[in-house]
Amino acid sequence: MEFDNLKVLPLHKYPEYLKETCDLINDEWPRSETARMMSLRASSDNLPSSLILINDKKLVLGHCKLTPIPTMPESCFIETVVISKSFRGMKLGTYLMRKVEEHCKNKLDLSMIHLSTKGQESFYEKLGYKICAPVSIYGTRIPNYRPTEPSHKETQVPVRSAPSTGAPPPPPPPPMPRNENLINNNIVKTNKTFMFKYLSKV
Ligand SMILES: CC(C)(COP(=O)(O)OP(=O)(O)OC[C@H]1O[C@@H](n2cnc3c(N)ncnc32)[C@H](O)[C@@H]1OP(=O)(O)O)[C@@H](O)C(=O)NCCC(=O)NCCS
Repeated sequence: MEFDNLKVLPLHKYPEYLKETCDLINDEWPRSETARMMSLRASSDNLPSSLILINDKKLVLGHCKLTPIPTMPESCFIETVVISKSFRGMKLGTYLMRKVEEHCKNKLDLSMIHLSTKGQESFYEKLGYKICAPVSIYGTRIPNYRPTEPSHKETQVPVRSAPSTGAPPPPPPPPMPRNENLINNNIVKTNKTFMFKYLSKV
């Protein structure tokens, strides 16, 4: 792979790549196009910001979104990191992340990056990320957390026996929607691995 032909660009300055970026992300994590486009259109010079990786043929090869962490203005949360399926394993993810880190350090004046992942821990470890306690992007700093396996037991409401009227018991209520990160009594139950990295000042 020829890295000289690659560019990492802020999506809001190149709206002509919006649709292609939307399709790239939705190919990995299907979601309504309207919702996805709305999220991508929120990109700005500050946070949130979407960065795209393109080649000299103007093909969108990758994407990464930077989101603010309200309680940590010195950091940001990296989301929706994706490389086009047919271009994986060619170090493009590494290249994109390096450029994203430079952007965070030099353009946004940040000193840290946080993220969460499930299954890509080795990829981020190779880039120098370390496991840390969860952070919330919704405004609360989390003092403790308890990693859990995804469990439907936690969300199921116990079903009582119906009174003996002869009628069949009513169907159980549907399970509550499962949050990926439940915050309860200052304990985060999450099945994701949170990671962070200090951005070295050169
Ligand atoms: C994760 C992803 C961005 C990596 O991009 P990539 O361009 O394929 O990664 P690279 O080629 O730069 O890989 C760098 C190193 O990480 C390793 N790596 C990449 N993906 C990995 C994975 N899923 N598990 C373990 N190691 C992985 C590579 O083997 C390589 O190791 P090496 O340096 O020893 O050869 C890409 O696979 C992807 O888009 N995945 C689907 C979306 C996703 O899961 N995103 C992450 C959300 S948290």
